[in-house]
Amino acid sequence: MRTRIKELLRCGVSGSGYTVSGWVRSLRLSKEIAFIVLNDGSSVDGMQIVAESGLANFEELSRVGTGSAVRVTGELVESPSAGQKYELKAIAVEVIGYADESYPLQKKRHTFEYLRTIAHLRPRTNTYGAVFRLRSKLAQAIHRFFAERNFLYVHTPIITASDCEGAGELFHVSTLDAANPPMVEGKIDYSQDFFGQKTGLTVSGQLEGEMFATAFGDIYTFGPTFRAENSNTARHASEFWMIEPEMAFADLADDAELAERFVRYLCRVALEECSEEMSFFDKQIEKGLLERVRSVADADFERIEYDEAIRLLQKSGATFNYPVEWGLDLQTEHERYITEQIVGGPAFILNYPKDIKAFYMRQNDDGRTVAAMDLLVPKVGEIIGGSQREERLDRLTRRMTEMGIAQEPLWWYLDSRRWGSCPHAGFGLGFERLVMYLSGMENIRDVIPFPRTPRHAEF
Ligand code: 4AD
Ligand code: MG
Repeated sequence: MRTRIKELLRCGVSGSGYTVSGWVRSLRLSKEIAFIVLNDGSSVDGMQIVAESGLANFEELSRVGTGSAVRVTGELVESPSAGQKYELKAIAVEVIGYADESYPLQKKRHTFEYLRTIAHLRPRTNTYGAVFRLRSKLAQAIHRFFAERNFLYVHTPIITASDCEGAGELFHVSTLDAANPPMVEGKIDYSQDFFGQKTGLTVSGQLEGEMFATAFGDIYTFGPTFRAENSNTARHASEFWMIEPEMAFADLADDAELAERFVRYLCRVALEECSEEMSFFDKQIEKGLLERVRSVADADFERIEYDEAIRLLQKSGATFNYPVEWGLDLQTEHERYITEQIVGGPAFILNYPKDIKAFYMRQNDDGRTVAAMDLLVPKVGEIIGGSQREERLDRLTRRMTEMGIAQEPLWWYLDSRRWGSCPHAGFGLGFERLVMYLSGMENIRDVIPFPRTPRHAEF
């Protein structure tokens, strides 16, 4: 039976007969003794293994390089040397898989850029180990958060015919021969395609989520979303995961309230359930991270009207690359200035101009804004985008016409406004942006196992 190193280091009861299996992080070898640091992926810390020359296969250890897979049975003892509390005095060492000096992770420190080129091996490093353990814990905690509140978990489709955000960023899904597609009147004839119509990968599960919210009350989706957005930034991925709750009989204030509780909950989860990883990030990735996350876990999030945000930016005296003007969307530099310099913590921006937002957002009485909200956080900028939805059929269809969105393909969406329509609201939290925010990692490529970005889908 194999014991996980994390368990062994935590419970720390001295005794013999423990077996650990993992990969060699480092090995120091002399004639009499070998010191091996073994990591099995369960924690940042590895187990120090001490093997003495009396071992039957001691000679074999000279061929064991960094990265080798090894199984060790031994006795857990208090370590006489500094650096670790316990070590495992080996009774038997078995080499399961050799790694030689061509193994790329020899050095202690590599740049993140280099490690991205070996995304298949980087989970075996301290930093990525910590990132992906945090990511996993957060994903589990997200389901727990909604389960505790009786939200229905719905799996919205990946292949869809509707572009929810209306930004034309759909990856197309087709079985037509790309070199020679059937044509009618100079256009590709999608009626001959697999689904009999033009389809793509979803950019958001929201529209389908709304259908379920207007049946079950409170729902959420948590799945992959895809955007063929050709922007090579540190915060955009072509494939990313999004959590999208939707609540019936809820308005924008309820929506912001849920988002605030949700983010605070996830901060606490990171601090309490990933304390080892968070301390690692605090030391190695971003000094002061623990303090920052702790303060958010208890903070009241600021709420600022878009109008006010524009005024604050204009009178800040700061210079920006992009213009600041009522009616224009906030760029990352503006978002970060608001949350980092003006507020010093998370801030909701509420009620944006309708012309920079999606068709489904509820129109405010002022005729120029919609009930939208973005949650901005230091370092990342926008982490959540959400809104109250337009539940009034006439207002919704009028807006669709204004924006040139065809009603016919969305007949099913409009049906929810035909029968038993009700106010409802929801939001989308970008999962990778959350992981960035909580780990201090500054590039989205470093918080998703195998990132997909423009011109990059190798592994
Ligand atoms: O603001 P967005 O586009 O909102 C929606 O998709 C709504 N349908 C959500 C809803 O109301 N149910 O995206 C939501 C969040 C953003 O705030 C951001 O965190 C993340 O998704 N996001 C991205 N993350 C990584 N890479 C990208 N290309 C992203 N685009 C959006
Ligand atoms: Mg947005």
